[in-house]
Amino acid sequence: MTEISASVLTVEKENAIRTFYNLETGKINYFHIDVMDGKFVEKDTTELMKDYALTISHISNLGLDVHFMVENVEEFIDEYAMLEPEIMTFHIEATKEEERTKNAIEEIKRAGSRVGISISPDTKLDEIKPYLNLVHMVLVMTVIPGKGGQQLIPETLEKVKELKNYIDENNIDIDIEVDGGINAETAGKAVESGANILVSGNYLINAENIEEAVAKLK
Ligand code: DX5
Ligand code: ZN
Repeated sequence: MTEISASVLTVEKENAIRTFYNLETGKINYFHIDVMDGKFVEKDTTELMKDYALTISHISNLGLDVHFMVENVEEFIDEYAMLEPEIMTFHIEATKEEERTKNAIEEIKRAGSRVGISISPDTKLDEIKPYLNLVHMVLVMTVIPGKGGQQLIPETLEKVKELKNYIDENNIDIDIEVDGGINAETAGKAVESGANILVSGNYLINAENIEEAVAKLK
């Protein structure tokens, strides 16, 4: 079954509570929290995302799918642990070395969350292969991380296919999440390529009827 994770990155503060409510009643599966530190990517969303994550954890029963686009992965895992996210995902481009990557995976498990490892469009799949047995999800970025509202880069879906083949051949049971430029047209292609969790931001947030938009994605 395809699951939908709604990115709240571009939700406006004035409409936040209503939008969160509409997303939940619209039958999304997770709230996707895009934490950007102003270093790993240009934007700094640390305060806004903390605020939204806290609010959502108070008013919603749905799990948080936290996506760290940050250099200091360890610091943010610590900070978010108290919110008990369903999933915490960090970038391989941030941790780089094996020991640090394995420590981050362990820390997330210690916090009781599922572990996601993310890979940017310019990074080869080989970089994450050694960790696939240790994580629950791979987040394949389908745009360059940094902002919402971009167009999906078609080549990234080739990476999704390659990953799907690899995990099937090796009997590895993990989720594949795609993030960036997912809308009614691209969702089908992403699922055909092997993704089973779709992050969607602008397409959902700007939809006139969120429930219909979620159903279209699914
Ligand atoms: C991009 C973020 C995405 C993004 C998704 O850096 O990780 O989660 O906000 O938004 P849309 O669906 O608008 O591309
Ligand atoms: Zn994201």
